[in-house]
Amino acid sequence: STQERVFSGVQPSGNLTLGNYLGAIRNWVGLQQDYESIFCVVDLHAITVWQEPEVLRNATREVAAGMIASGVDPKQSIIFNQSQVRQHAELAWIFNCVARLGWLNRMTQFKEKAGKNKERASVGLYVYPNLMAADILLYKATHVPVGEDQKQHLELTRDIAQKFNSDYGVEFFPDVEPLILGEATRVMSLRDGTNKMSKSDPSDMSRINLTDDRDTIAKKIRKARTDAEPLPETPDGLEGRPEAKNLITIFGALAGKSSAEVCSQYAGKGFADFKRDLADLSVDVLGPITEEMKRLTEEKTYVDSVLREGADKAAAIAEPILQEIHEIVGF
Ligand code: ADP
Ligand code: NA
Repeated sequence: STQERVFSGVQPSGNLTLGNYLGAIRNWVGLQQDYESIFCVVDLHAITVWQEPEVLRNATREVAAGMIASGVDPKQSIIFNQSQVRQHAELAWIFNCVARLGWLNRMTQFKEKAGKNKERASVGLYVYPNLMAADILLYKATHVPVGEDQKQHLELTRDIAQKFNSDYGVEFFPDVEPLILGEATRVMSLRDGTNKMSKSDPSDMSRINLTDDRDTIAKKIRKARTDAEPLPETPDGLEGRPEAKNLITIFGALAGKSSAEVCSQYAGKGFADFKRDLADLSVDVLGPITEEMKRLTEEKTYVDSVLREGADKAAAIAEPILQEIHEIVGF
């Protein structure tokens, strides 16, 4: 079919961050109007590194609540968690047999996440991109909104699709297009401005979580690292100043302004004033989401029912596609 379909996911490996919101979830809200949209809490991905079972279960519910509170609408989009649709794991196995070792060896995120002692990383962490390819291709998704951090994995998805099509002599999987949206596709850590803001960063001060209250947000922004210089007149003056650049990017993304506009607004001012305004702005944008998330997580059965219904809808799309794949592969 020629239908345009979006797939994207978020890991329940902790609380949603401002990075997840600005780089992903906020964009999903707009996409669901234009595309048939499938948004997945990727719990199979989360266990590539150790997760306490109860913590994982709660995080899955909380991430789903965060998506819904941000405006992803269960009536317009399919929202579910990956482990509940068994077809993901099965297609990932088939893709383990399509992808080449050399391809996975080039994945930079594995190198970052595995750290120094690669021998001790899980095999799952290594083949994670094959599971991501399965997530997308199981639905024959045509568009995937991704942050900068996932671009290489999406390339691999395209390679797997092409190799599968050519190995089996079929035109089965579509070409998947990345959708890279907005200026703030990459939000950095508040501690250094150079590593990405991540919910799995051990330091809670490195990120703003969608569950943080007003005082916590203000404190984290106040303590965010900056340099001694005032704000520059133009973004050119942010060269070599990653911490300052990051805060200005965040401000712009939250305010719907370009970095140039933010710079001209604060040119010559110190960071104390700017940070106070940034904290207020963050609270204005995130406060209502935090409130709604709290309401939804307290009302446990609602989120669970959204996930259950979402899994049924997702499986109804996935199963016939997987049956065709069985035919093609010779099962
Ligand atoms: P995390 O590193 O927080 O665990 P995930 O791997 O769950 O993030 O990513 C979920 C989505 O959020 C992806 O689309 C990813 O590109 C996006 N994302 C994650 N971190 C950031 C960030 N710091 N800035 C922008 N987008 C991000
Ligand atoms: Na991640």
